[in-house]
Amino acid sequence: MEINSMEREQAKAVTASMTLEEKVHLWTGNSYWSTYPMERFGLSECILSDGPHGVRRVKERDHLGQAVNERATGFPASAAMGATWNKELLREVGEALGRECQSMGIDILLGPAVNMKRSVLGGRNFEYLSEDPVLAGKLAAQIVNGIQSTGTGACMKHFACNNSEAYRMTADVNVDERTLHELYLKVFEIIVKESGPMAVMGAYNKVNGTYACENKYLLTDVLRNAWGFTGMVLSDWLAVDECVEAVKAGLNLEMPQNPAVYEKLEKAVLSGELPEELLNKRTEELLGVLFTLQKNRNPKPVDWEKHRAIARKTAAESMVLLKNEGNLLPADWSRTKSLAVLGDFAVHPRTQGGGSSSVETEQQATILEELKRQAPEGLKIRFAAGYDREGDTTEELLKEAAKAAQDCDRVIIFAGLPESYESEGYDRSHMRMPEGHVRLIDEIAAIRTDILVVLSNGSPIEMPFLETVDAVLEAWLLGQETAGALADVIFHRAQPSGRMPETFPKHLEEEAAGVHFSVDEGTLYYGERMMTGYRYYEKRGMTPAVPFGFGLSYTTFDYSDMTVTKERVTEKDELEVRVKVKNTGSYPGYEVVQLYVSNRQTRMLHPEKELKDFEKLYLQPGEEREVRFVLNCDAFSCYSRKAGGWITEPGEYGILIGASVKDIRGSVLIRLEQEEERHDRLTEKSTLEEWLAHPCGRKEAERMLSHYRGFGMGEGRSFEELSHFVKRIMLEMPMPGLITASDGSFTHEELSAMVNRAAGKEECR
Ligand code: BGC
Repeated sequence: MEINSMEREQAKAVTASMTLEEKVHLWTGNSYWSTYPMERFGLSECILSDGPHGVRRVKERDHLGQAVNERATGFPASAAMGATWNKELLREVGEALGRECQSMGIDILLGPAVNMKRSVLGGRNFEYLSEDPVLAGKLAAQIVNGIQSTGTGACMKHFACNNSEAYRMTADVNVDERTLHELYLKVFEIIVKESGPMAVMGAYNKVNGTYACENKYLLTDVLRNAWGFTGMVLSDWLAVDECVEAVKAGLNLEMPQNPAVYEKLEKAVLSGELPEELLNKRTEELLGVLFTLQKNRNPKPVDWEKHRAIARKTAAESMVLLKNEGNLLPADWSRTKSLAVLGDFAVHPRTQGGGSSSVETEQQATILEELKRQAPEGLKIRFAAGYDREGDTTEELLKEAAKAAQDCDRVIIFAGLPESYESEGYDRSHMRMPEGHVRLIDEIAAIRTDILVVLSNGSPIEMPFLETVDAVLEAWLLGQETAGALADVIFHRAQPSGRMPETFPKHLEEEAAGVHFSVDEGTLYYGERMMTGYRYYEKRGMTPAVPFGFGLSYTTFDYSDMTVTKERVTEKDELEVRVKVKNTGSYPGYEVVQLYVSNRQTRMLHPEKELKDFEKLYLQPGEEREVRFVLNCDAFSCYSRKAGGWITEPGEYGILIGASVKDIRGSVLIRLEQEEERHDRLTEKSTLEEWLAHPCGRKEAERMLSHYRGFGMGEGRSFEELSHFVKRIMLEMPMPGLITASDGSFTHEELSAMVNRAAGKEECR
């Protein structure tokens, strides 16, 4: 969907005919969930609704899940969708979401939610896709493409740096420019460039001192000017602090309705504080979107069964098999007479997260009911709660569960995080499961280890039992099809084929961002910079509990014949990477082929590996397929604060193909050459090292060193003959320091002459 020239012209003409009063009315909502209609211009209300993994059409004037909502399909939470690593499938989910919106008269869906999972403690991590901007960006772009193919507008959120919940309406995120661009903005950049969303939602928090909704750098300089975004920017609900500043920065719509802005904005325009052209610009941008959405309305009856099937498939594709000792899965049920189903989650399943994303779905069967429904004939199922709804346990509950585990052929334990442990609005303070859940697993594992533990949680948890039980299945929050999809996997009607979209550390203390996670006198310092998630563990050479990209399969895959089209490339080249993948086991299965780039440069700090692309394949036993990736210079670039933009450093890069960040199956080294090497200009304050590394300065510096007396040089002792210690001191010293220590052999006049000569050279200007 695009805003074409007709809507653009219409927006322009209408803006020119609007009164100031109409313009300020249009700048804020007409209600909690709609924009201001203007009949005289043929503009109706535009309806907005949450998002992101199901449509939350609020019937009453209320938000944050407190009201009665219309029924919709509850897809797996974004944390689970991220684990599918399946672009095509998420496009289908997007299409389904868009169709449901159309059928309910919704023009804009408030999703996808794509903030980076900076710390495992983020309360809203279940609502976000990944810790990695490429994975989240490419998946979200397909969700947007799907939604918008139906005529519904998508609204990516929350722009930007809303990576935690505590004090989200006031916290000032202090983040350096490079980290901001490479991690926290990158995900939005990919979505804008790969799918053109109609809307973006400004976040609650401040970014480097300015509220996101009043941040001209974010809303205009980066979003519109650098990335070419042409849609509308709306505020998160109740996020606007100063409306005049927000208009100036680039905000098109304050949500929800706030009648106080009418007078404020009118006054600001009449007094000249807010130039009317700016308000006109905001109005035109907004109208372009509203007219486009209005034209694309296309309500049709929804095929609910089809959407249910998509939700179910997505659920199975998102489940990650973390451990499968003795191939406990897929289970052969033909010789199994009895199954012990343990854990209260089997009768009160955890299916979604709390807050604005919660979806009102059809009443669903419990896991226990669905297991009984799908069970092979003759299989006896015995249930014991093991813990209560709060997650506590008693000796009696444990005893009952232990008895069931002893008496039955097979045991499955359902555990994870209860609802109150994670939600929009607050962060977590630890990553432990409730005591009762852990005790139940421990108790049963002491009796037998051939247990399958099924986890329902939206964010990472400590898993001490990963060592003690034979099989663990990460089942996230799977939405309305939780029970059905789990029964499908347990009875081998579907395969769990997810891969980790985030790292699970062993303990909270292991992660980098945790140290910098609390708001400190109003400021949240992103002190770990780019080293979040796998970037940190790789840098430190650590093995977390579950690495990024990891997931077991029922089958095995061989990677071979990895090739690149060129081993020397320039910034202008495209590089094609090919690799063959073969299913060498006896089950059909999914494999996720992951491409990482490692940078060997040392001038700038780099993560060891960074994901650049991925592809999910389904292969029959014995089947082989070639996967092809095309990389351009974006894959090798990094953001330089000094240069004020993206640069590529010449040098060697590793192209790595893997089945997870820790399981690299093939690598090729390439050399990136720069047609023109860029160097900082030499000044009198440059260091000796900078002079020696500079094509126009090296000869000058060598000449100076040839007669230098200081640091033990002179009398036949050259620079090369100095100790490593003294050499490093000299190399890192700005030139004036060398003058002082030179015993008169190097002067300020000589240095000025050197600078002039270096600057005078054509190629160094
Ligand atoms: C949330 C948004 C949501 C909005 C409307 C806010 O509190 O942060 O994600 O779209 O409410 O419900």
